[in-house]
Amino acid sequence: MTLLTVEDLEAGYETGQVLFGVDLDVDDGELVSLLGRNGAGKTTTLRSIAGAAEPTVLGGDITFDDKRLTGTAPYSIAKEGLSFVPEARRCFPRLTVTENIRLAVNHAEDPKDIETVLDFFPELSEMREKQARNMSGGEQQMLAIARALAANPRLMLLDEPFEGLAPYIVRRIEDIIAEINSEQGIAVLLVEQNVAAAVAVADRHYILDEGRIVESVSTAKLRENEEMRQRYLGV
Ligand SMILES: Nc1ncnc2c1ncn2[C@@H]1O[C@H](COP(=O)(O)OP(=O)(O)O)[C@@H](O)[C@H]1O
Ligand SMILES: [Mg+2]
Repeated sequence: MTLLTVEDLEAGYETGQVLFGVDLDVDDGELVSLLGRNGAGKTTTLRSIAGAAEPTVLGGDITFDDKRLTGTAPYSIAKEGLSFVPEARRCFPRLTVTENIRLAVNHAEDPKDIETVLDFFPELSEMREKQARNMSGGEQQMLAIARALAANPRLMLLDEPFEGLAPYIVRRIEDIIAEINSEQGIAVLLVEQNVAAAVAVADRHYILDEGRIVESVSTAKLRENEEMRQRYLGV
């Protein structure tokens, strides 16, 4: 069953249009990546889906679980079961691990139990009273994902979850994302510039270039097609 459908999405900022007709879909329980160079429009696509104040959606349709999301407020979109983990893992710096997760729980329609969430992140469970600002980048990324998980979503949107992390933390976050998908059945749409990490976790990939989807490929095809990777991703 198709969970998320983005059709002919056009969006932009005061400075100009950035997306020129983005089409993509994510099935229930699927793990999909959206790849593209810096500035291709990946974050703009995710923020449009999540209903962020910026960018402005200029045209097209976003449908989630057969409901039209285009023009809906972010809190209503979250209530429908869509969790967004923005770039740079915005946790509340002066709040502890528990407090950060509790805030997410308090804002959710049908949240998970805080202990159930912490069970999934042994590292966080051991630092419950630590403030987010005193945690490493990898720990903060885990906390950002834990907050999104606490809302008990059907689809998680992740904006560059591996950015700036050491390789061994990248592998740990890969495992967490794969487990959230396979064990909890949560669909994931992951935006990345890190092609290797995206290929390690996602089954299917869209490539965005200058605000348009230029390819939709399986992991196997992306692995073997070096010409495609070079042209659109530079790797
Ligand atoms: N808040 C903003 N205001 C104006 N332009 C923006 C804003 N955010 C992004 N852009 C522009 O939109 C284009 C796409 O950006 P973005 O979606 O962030 O790309 P990506 O996430 O793929 O790196 C870029 O040219 C960028 O400069
Ligand atoms: Mg981005």
